[in-house]
Amino acid sequence: MDAYKRTVTCGELSAQHVGSTVTLNGWVHRKRDHGGVHFINLRDRYGITQTVVNEQSSPDLAKVVKDLRYEFCIALVGEVVARPAEMVNSNMATGEIEVHATHIEVLSTCKPLPFMIEEDKTDAREDLRLSHRYLDLRSGAMQRYIALRHKFTYAAREFYNSRGFYEIETPTFIRSTPEGARDFLVPSRLHHGKFYALPQSPQLYKQLLMVSGFDKYFQVARCYRDEDARGDRQLEFTQIDVERSFVSQDEILTETEELFAYTFEKTIGYKVETPFPRISYANAMNRFGTDKPDLRFEMELQDFTEFAGNSEFQAFKGVLAEGGSCKALVAPGCAEYSRKQIDQLEAQAKTYGAKGLAWTKVQEGEFQGGVGRFFQDQYDAICTALGAKVGDLILMGADTWKRVSTYMGAVRTKLGEDLELTDPKVFAFCWIVDFPLFEENDEGGWNAVHHMFTMPHERYIDTMEENPGEVLGQLYDMVINGNEIASGSIRVHDPDIQSRIFSIVGFSEEEARARFGFLLEAFSYGPPPHGGIAPGLDRTVMLMVGEKTIKEVIPFPKATSGICPMVEAPAEVDKEQLDDLHISIAPKPEKE
Ligand code: AMO
Ligand code: AMP
Repeated sequence: MDAYKRTVTCGELSAQHVGSTVTLNGWVHRKRDHGGVHFINLRDRYGITQTVVNEQSSPDLAKVVKDLRYEFCIALVGEVVARPAEMVNSNMATGEIEVHATHIEVLSTCKPLPFMIEEDKTDAREDLRLSHRYLDLRSGAMQRYIALRHKFTYAAREFYNSRGFYEIETPTFIRSTPEGARDFLVPSRLHHGKFYALPQSPQLYKQLLMVSGFDKYFQVARCYRDEDARGDRQLEFTQIDVERSFVSQDEILTETEELFAYTFEKTIGYKVETPFPRISYANAMNRFGTDKPDLRFEMELQDFTEFAGNSEFQAFKGVLAEGGSCKALVAPGCAEYSRKQIDQLEAQAKTYGAKGLAWTKVQEGEFQGGVGRFFQDQYDAICTALGAKVGDLILMGADTWKRVSTYMGAVRTKLGEDLELTDPKVFAFCWIVDFPLFEENDEGGWNAVHHMFTMPHERYIDTMEENPGEVLGQLYDMVINGNEIASGSIRVHDPDIQSRIFSIVGFSEEEARARFGFLLEAFSYGPPPHGGIAPGLDRTVMLMVGEKTIKEVIPFPKATSGICPMVEAPAEVDKEQLDDLHISIAPKPEKE
């Protein structure tokens, strides 16, 4: 190999190299024969170089070229020559030159490909891409995504390192953590009948590190959750996990804003405006119908209860009589919408639990169509209050506050996409704060909304038990373009408050001791006040490259079904392996 080791990469030659002799190593990307002049585009991680073999002047070399196939890995020695002016390709970094080959050495051959390697992404089916992921990753787009992922991760490390944080590893074989999803379990061979759990996040360990005095911790951490994979979810994923001692919520939010400003600038040259808007959970639900609003466009939900109450529209009045709410959404310029388009919006609302979606169009001095006739007498007041103009479409819904907010929010999201207000190159950041700490469960008890170690806001501490539903926590989510990107909280470090929280969520003292006695024990040795956050790395990079699923930015992801078609995991194991673990497989249940 030494004789054919590259002297340059396929991405770096330009006019200034004309006249030099070079050796390239790379893959045969494309091959064309122009009447005895053979062009071979040679590709590596750095780019593509056009190389040329002339059959007349180099008949032996031309024979080698004829046997070359796509994706053969070759070494090519040749002279750098300026392209004739009409052949200069300004779209290509190496477009000013070509390399006239004097020798070609085949380093390895390649079978017929399952799909072509493209400069962009292949349009092959997902199962093919995933079963040959190593080939899929050769495409230009995937190479760029992986490079960008590296840059972003590296910039995050730079950021925290420059601020005195230590990156500290935490174990991946642990006892189950209370994060809400299902744990992946690892059976222990040495300890009969016992299991390790893979961490859903390093949550408990980072809190223990605070007790140890490592007051600024971060980690690029793998997390494992046994849940249904979706566009923005994988069974294993990566967080930039962060924890600090002696810190307020405000400081964490500000520092995280700085992290995103630094990494976005450094990675994609995007200037992030800080501070990000901070919106309470209640406000977010009221204005956008979701706790992950897309702020690239306005179109906020508006209260319509008063107008509904004044009208004779019985469907709405009935809902109001039962204590429900009525909300409206003004779709600017959508009076042109056809019945079919409105039906599609209604279908969207119905998948989020709506009974229907009322509508009317704003014309000069009158509402036209839909439920307009019930509101005609309030035309001026409604248009003024909602800011509706001639040519707009007004959409209305009535239901419980939570349900109407949620489905009108879903309609808003769909309208944003339909009206092309969601430019993937624009990033609208915000914080959602003041989440409730507890939510009522179906059995009439209370669940922790985030996890059980979140500190209530000071003002609720003395009286938490009186009305748990009203207690707001020092709990925050960061959202970009309608995606939850990070989540964190200020933690409870006071054993007394902690045991009161356990008892609100119906966790007995014994149960708490059994599951995280070690944490409670640690907290009896002078724990510092602390808090943290964890941005999801995969989701952030997905947004940076404008993709819709995190699979595109994970080198070896699982398919949505949770399997890896390449290595065929999960898989059965040998009986001996199971015997070692004292595990036997029960027959498959008829219905899962
Ligand atoms: P949380 O569970 O909200 O918080 O996760 C934080 C962030 O991790 C990302 N994320 C995921 N990404 C891909 N696939 C998944 N299945 C997945 N689940 C979560 C999201 C999310 O915002 N320990 C706490 C953080 C803390 O309190 O410090 C935690 O894990 O971007
Ligand atoms: P109706 O008078 O029941 O025929 O309803 C007239 C319109 O109002 C239809 O477009 C329904 O989809 C809509 N509608 C009825 N009830 C509700 C509701 N609770 N929320 C939203 N739209 C509704």
